[in-house]
Amino acid sequence: MLSDLLTSRPIRAFIFDVDGVVADTAGFHVAAWKGAVQEQGIDFPESIAESLRGESRRRSLELILGERTISQEQFETIMHRKNEAYVAALSRLTNDDCMPGVVRLIGLLRKNGIKVGAVSASQSARRVLQLIGASKLFETVVDGRDAQFIPEKHRFEIAVAKLEVSPANCCVVEDSLANIVVAKKLGMCAIGVGPAASSNEADYVLETLEALVRRENALPSIRLKADDVSNEWNSDCPPLGCR
Ligand code: G6P
Ligand code: MG
Repeated sequence: MLSDLLTSRPIRAFIFDVDGVVADTAGFHVAAWKGAVQEQGIDFPESIAESLRGESRRRSLELILGERTISQEQFETIMHRKNEAYVAALSRLTNDDCMPGVVRLIGLLRKNGIKVGAVSASQSARRVLQLIGASKLFETVVDGRDAQFIPEKHRFEIAVAKLEVSPANCCVVEDSLANIVVAKKLGMCAIGVGPAASSNEADYVLETLEALVRRENALPSIRLKADDVSNEWNSDCPPLGCR
């Protein structure tokens, strides 16, 4: 039960992954990879699509190639072409590409004084949040660009520092199994959604966040837990942008 998770320790902040958790963009990444490798005459192994979630651009291409070796130049070309295709596809994003339930959940957390941040490996994450009308939901955003400047820190560590909470008081919401493992190693709580719902590592798993919001019995415990938390940030809560 989520209520058990939230009462087992004081949760002061939630960190949401962007692609596949806040924005319905995981498929955009896959489609862009598929096009970029196929134009180089390389097959895209469909079975790998889900395991690309949360992986860096470079690591994603390594996973797609598997045992196959290509020249460094071709590797760079494919990464470049994938990014061009992905960025071009983002122009189709609208508020409707916000994942169901996420805005309601964030609204609920914020009303109750729980800090909310967004973290992504993607260099396009801020743009994605803008395009789906979700930027203002987050007190802080850490994306692939920020992490480049502090390479020794994981993005989750940068985010908890910005939110001024300790990892133990922070819950990560992720669709990537690999990132759930990272969050747990850092001593954070982890909620696995989508494909990560099959994770044994996560503290709590859900098919979708909408399912959580619908579960009325989970909500009072969030309110209860947040009663003793400062509510300053709540005062300028912007109107919620998407569904
Ligand atoms: C996120 C996505 C991954 C993507 C990574 C880097 O974690 O889930 O699929 O590879 O960001 O994204 P970028 O847009 O910078 O290549
Ligand atoms: Mg993701």
